[in-house]
Amino acid sequence: MKKVLALLLALVLAAALVACSTETSSASPSASSAAPTSSAPASDAASPSAPAAGGKIGVAMPTKSLERWNRDGAFLKKQFEAQGYTVELTYSDNDATKQVNDIENMIADKVDLLVIAAIDSQGLSTVLKDAVDAKIPAIAYDRLIMDTSAVAYYVSFDNYTVGKLQGQYVVDTLKLDVNDKSKTYNIEFTAGDPADNNARFFYQGAYDVLKPFLDAGILKVPSGQIAFDQVATPKWTTATAMNRFQNILASFYSSGTQLDVALCSNDSTSLGVTQAIQSDYKGKNTVVITGQDGDEANLANIIDGKQSMTVYKAVANEAVVTVDLGIAMLKGEKPDGALIDKSGWKFSCTFDTKTYDNNTGIIPSYLLVPTVVTIDNLQKELVDTGYYKMDGKYPKAVG
Ligand code: BGC
Repeated sequence: MKKVLALLLALVLAAALVACSTETSSASPSASSAAPTSSAPASDAASPSAPAAGGKIGVAMPTKSLERWNRDGAFLKKQFEAQGYTVELTYSDNDATKQVNDIENMIADKVDLLVIAAIDSQGLSTVLKDAVDAKIPAIAYDRLIMDTSAVAYYVSFDNYTVGKLQGQYVVDTLKLDVNDKSKTYNIEFTAGDPADNNARFFYQGAYDVLKPFLDAGILKVPSGQIAFDQVATPKWTTATAMNRFQNILASFYSSGTQLDVALCSNDSTSLGVTQAIQSDYKGKNTVVITGQDGDEANLANIIDGKQSMTVYKAVANEAVVTVDLGIAMLKGEKPDGALIDKSGWKFSCTFDTKTYDNNTGIIPSYLLVPTVVTIDNLQKELVDTGYYKMDGKYPKAVG
């Protein structure tokens, strides 16, 4: 048994090392990410009384219907188990009430640590009060959990930068120049779920980059839909994004108006918008379409020329950070920026104590760096790094 465990551990470590050491992160940590400073966790966050190994971790993921969360859940489970922990992993069908029940069950099962990717960022205060009472600390995974001081840490990618990369891609691809008004372009926006705290960061990042061109009249929005609430997609659903876009095309583009850009915050919305454009757009030009995640269907669309780019986030590394952080917390440490050097991660990560305020104060955050993927660097960034394998013409995610 010991031998099997040791072998498993060695295999997982080897896989993690390959994933880490081969990442060619072209981006450097964003300016908004603070240099490592030390900071104590938010006040009410429980200090665990659990042993360093042999404890139980509750991992609450939003849904199996979006590709990435399956990968996150699997990586977290595998990596915690390799360190000697047991893992209770739940998916809650994007149903916020179900996720609260799932977390309640984890608390009743006496997990030692909660790792939560929230469905409703504002809907977990009550259940997390129970976690504090039971002395179970919580890490907000990928999505910040709002309105509760029960959250000790936040692990994510730099969400504002994700949006900025999408906006900058549009600027670079159309070669926009704020002083050159000789050519104008039509753009439509599709953002994410209003219940997901990330969604506003993504949208704001993209909008801030594009605003000078909107102000100058170089970018125009025929539908007039610009406010986050007008362009949001509840639950990030592909069908919802598709239906909204079909309506936009029918109402504003049916008499020959050219659509140049569809700025989409992630791949599930991008998929719906691309479907709408394929079926309902009359123009013959290639529309610039953005995305995020590197979902297989979207990478296939990039290869087929139907989607222009995606912002890739190596969730295997997000899991590595979460596991190292969680274990340090369970050992009774108060991790700060020093965890980054101590862990020897081969990928970029910053410790931020300025950006993510969840209405109870700043939540200390570990932020990883996203990467733009297009047809030109897909092989180098995704396949050569070992994150994906080519399966015929298209990439399939590894792990
Ligand atoms: C994640 C994205 C994902 C979206 C939809 C966001 O919180 O950061 O990677 O595409 O949720 O699930």
